[in-house]
Order: sequence, then C-alpha cells, then structure tokens
Amino acid sequence: MARILITSALPYINGIKHLGNLVGSMLPADVYARFCRAQGHETLYICATDEHGTPAELAALKAGQDVKTYCDEQHERQRQVGEGFLLSYDHFGRSSSAENHALTQHFAQKLMDNGYIEEREIEMIFSVDDGRFLPDRYVEGTCPKCGSDKARGDQCNSCDTLLDPTELINPRSAISGSTNLEIRTSKHLYLLQSKLEGQLKAWVDSQHHWPNLARSIALKWLEEGLADRGITRDLKWGVPVNREGFEDKVFYVWFDAPIEYIGATQEWAKATAQKDPDKAWQRWWRTDQGAEDVRYVQFMGKDNVAFHTVSFPATLIGSGEPWKRVDVLKAFNWLNWYGGKFSTSENRGVFMDTALDLLPADVWRWYLMANAPEGADTAFTWEQFQSTVNSDLANVLGNFVNRIMKFCDSKLDGKVPEHGPHTEVESKMLTELEGMLADLTRQLEAMEMRKAASTLRGIWVLGNEYLQEAAPWTAMKTDPERAGHVVRMALELAGLFAVISAPFIPQTSQVILQALGRDKTILSWPTGSSADVLTALTAGASITTPPVLFQKIEDEQVAEWTERFGGAEQELAEPTEA
Ligand code: 2FM
Ligand code: ZN
Repeated sequence: MARILITSALPYINGIKHLGNLVGSMLPADVYARFCRAQGHETLYICATDEHGTPAELAALKAGQDVKTYCDEQHERQRQVGEGFLLSYDHFGRSSSAENHALTQHFAQKLMDNGYIEEREIEMIFSVDDGRFLPDRYVEGTCPKCGSDKARGDQCNSCDTLLDPTELINPRSAISGSTNLEIRTSKHLYLLQSKLEGQLKAWVDSQHHWPNLARSIALKWLEEGLADRGITRDLKWGVPVNREGFEDKVFYVWFDAPIEYIGATQEWAKATAQKDPDKAWQRWWRTDQGAEDVRYVQFMGKDNVAFHTVSFPATLIGSGEPWKRVDVLKAFNWLNWYGGKFSTSENRGVFMDTALDLLPADVWRWYLMANAPEGADTAFTWEQFQSTVNSDLANVLGNFVNRIMKFCDSKLDGKVPEHGPHTEVESKMLTELEGMLADLTRQLEAMEMRKAASTLRGIWVLGNEYLQEAAPWTAMKTDPERAGHVVRMALELAGLFAVISAPFIPQTSQVILQALGRDKTILSWPTGSSADVLTALTAGASITTPPVLFQKIEDEQVAEWTERFGGAEQELAEPTEA
C-alpha cells in the first residue's frame, strides 16, 4: 500500500467560498482522499485557510474588526461549512499559525543563505487617494500581453500571464478606482527565480504523468522565461520579515501560503498528539525522512497552477533542503454561473453555506463532480442541476435501492434471502459489472472525476436493468427460490453501490449500508472479481428500508431559486472578476 499526501488549494479567509471554488479544489481532493483510504492507502489530506495579504486586511476593515479577530471567526465558519460538505480533512489548518510563521522565515533564510534572495529598491504604486501602497492585486489595468482591461497587478486572468503591477497599462486602484497613482520607491526582497529556471525546467520536463492542463500551463510559463518575484509587501498583517529596514513589511501571501501545506502538517502532528510530532510530519515532507515513498497530489483551480509549478517549487528547490515536491498536480477550469463568473465581491452564485441550507451535501457533491470543469469551463444552471439530480440520484440510484428494499420488506419479511444458482441474466450482468468496476477504479486513480461519475452512474443503471430483466416480482409467483436469489443479488448490489459511491456521496452511502445492516466503517474498495464483491450479506439477516434517498427537485423550486439567486437573466451580463 502506498502513502498518499493530498492538499487542496487553501481557500482565502475572506468569506465563505462559492461552489466554483469548491469544485476545483476541496471537493475533488476529498473524493480522491476517500477513494485512496478505501483502497487501503495511508492517506493524509491537508487543507487550511489562507489568511494573510490584502484580501484579509480589507475584508476585516469592511467588517469593522481587527484582522486577527476577523480571521479567527472566518476560519471557524469555513471549518464548519467544510464539515457540512463532508470534507474529510485530516487537518484544516491556518496559514497564520506559529508553525507557518516559523517555516516561512526558515525558507526565506535558507534562500538568502543560498543566494536566491536579494534586496532591491523598487518603484511601487502608491495610491494618493487611498493613502497607501497598492499591493499587486489591488492595481488593475490593461494587460501588456493580451490587452484585456481587467488584468490585476499580479496576474491577467484572460491570458494567465503573471504580472508585476508596474507592467499594467493605464493602472487604477482596485479599492477606489482612483487613477491618482504615483510611483514611489520602497525596499523589497526578491526571489531570484531566474537563477532557478534551469532546475525548475528540468524538473517540470520530467513530470510526464501530470494531467494535461497543469503540464501545459507550467510549460507555457517556463517557455516565457522566469522573472524574479518580489516576496515582501508593505502590509502589517502577515509573516514578519525580521530584517533591518523591513519592520513595516511582511512576506507576500503567495510566498507563505503554499508553505502552509507543510505548516498545516506540523499543526496536524501536534493536534493529533503524535508520539513524535517532528518525525510524524517529516515522513510526509522530508525525503531524507521517508517522504521519498510518498505520492504527493495537489488539487487547484487553473489560476493557481503557476504558483504551484514554479513559485513554490522554486522555494523548495532553492532552500537546498530535501523537501518533497508535488508528484501529480490536478487542475480544474472554471465553473461559471450561467454566462458570467461566480463573484464573491458581488455575491453572485451559490455559496457553500447557502447551498447546504437548500439541499443535503451529497446532492451538491454529486452534481459538482458529475459536471466538473475538467476539459473546459462549464456553467452552472438550475435546470441542469435539477436534471442531474433527478435523473441520476432520484431516478437511478434512489429508485434502485428503495425498490429492492421495499420489495424485500414486503415479500420476504425484510430478511436477506439465500443465494441460488446464477442464470444467464446474472452472468451477463456480472461480466459487465466487472468491466465497469475496473474502469471506475482506473478513472478515480487518474482523478478523472467526470468520467468516474459517468461510469458510476452506468453501474447504477446496470443495477436497474438487472432488476427489470430478472423481475423478481414475476418469479415470486412461480419460483420463489429464483426470486430470492435475484433479491439477494440486488441487495448485494445496493451494498456495493454504497461502497463505490462513498467518495462522491458519503452520507447516502452510510444510510444504505446501515439499512442493509452492514458495518458502516468498512469501506474497502472492491478488488476481486465481480462475483466476489457481492457476498457481503448474511442470509436471514434483517434489513430496514430507508426513507426515500433523494427527493426530486420540483420545477417550483427551480423557479424560486432562479428568482432568489439570479440565473437566466445573467446569461447576458458582463462577466465579472471573482
Ligand atoms: O487562489 C486562492 O484561493 C489562494 N488562496 C490559493 C492558495 S493555494 C496555496 F498555495 F496556499
Ligand atoms: Zn492578458
């Protein structure tokens, strides 16, 4: 069995995330983590809130709170909503932790010692009307590469180019819109990525197994040549620089955030009272302490890829220390809200907390993974949501489980019947099942969420087709033993469905296993032949029909939600930056 380290991009602290954030990072990471655990791999799934930088300072200001209090509250809110979505983090940390502060300063020192950091006097954009230096993201303007007029000072989201704010054409303050900007000088630390380019390129080149989206973004970046990056900012909230002349500065949020993957693992080791906390985290992260055996998988939206394939690896490589680097980087395109973008600032789209007020987590989890923006951007619409939920969950999976359990309840006194001999009908079904199970396993191993969801749906359909063809209700009249065998097979199938669906819909999976009287804690991924995996029940044991597993979404609900959250009328709206 392998050891698998999984991280999902750290959600910013500035408020509850929307479904577009969830679908590209935390949720697929959770599905994959649950699958790895079911396969018996030693799995560690780490996430945290990304708490530093201007977004946090400004959000706190807006909320009328000091930044620390704001972050404390928001972290707790995000933790709870993550729990509501059944995200099975082994640890949900905080980038403001003492661990991350110490690690960030450690990395900076090593990079400095190795000649990869240099102090530079630079020209910065100062907003006279806002009375402050404007950090990268708060300068907007026209992209010098593609001409988009919505480029941010750190990155152009239209062409994915990383930028420096002074490169923007016609810059304006994103805070006030003011163009009364001056260039003033300020001292900052620079990470000399250009010096690390050769090493980075050699490493990325050797990562043939990265999925396409991540690999192509990384290579495009490296081809353009790496610029040195400022890693300090004129802010109060963040990791202090500890250097003369830098008293009013902190490290750039994108310097310390990925380091928190390690920081949060340290937090985990302490929080779970590992006997030797240092050894416990090091075996995941230090290749001289056993981490060379770890397979490290990262999940993120496509805007994060450059930071994870270039900036963070530059920090790790430049330290000269034996740190574990990512093995597989799974990136996602955007989930849009109708024709435009989800928007945190404009509160457009459905956010994680509201989603859970409307419907159970499993329903959202299924819809989002079945329609994950893997090959291209996709759009959320209430109509598509309704049709996915009703056809896949209610009509296919829900119908199968309820139908067979009700039948067993009413005709067989709720007792698991004996197995009998297979006929052609079973042999055909088992052969198909075997092939589909192998596909599902392969697709989940490759983290191809849409394909995996589609195969899983196909397996549920197979169950319904089997039941339809074997028709135990007819056999019951002439051949009760045959009917018993079909019911037994269908109940076993329901149990198998619960196990293989658990990564996507963990709550429902538990309900089904409980109804079948099966031990809910044993979720081992099926490996044997299809016949072997249908032997979990005991003849004579009692089952209890669960309430309807999934309520259908009615047209009235769709109308109400469209009205409440916006929808079709936004199809024509101008896309707005998140
Ligand atoms: O884009 C974002 O939401 C960032 N907060 C992701 C950070 S990922 C990691 F590096 F911390
Ligand atoms: Zn651009």
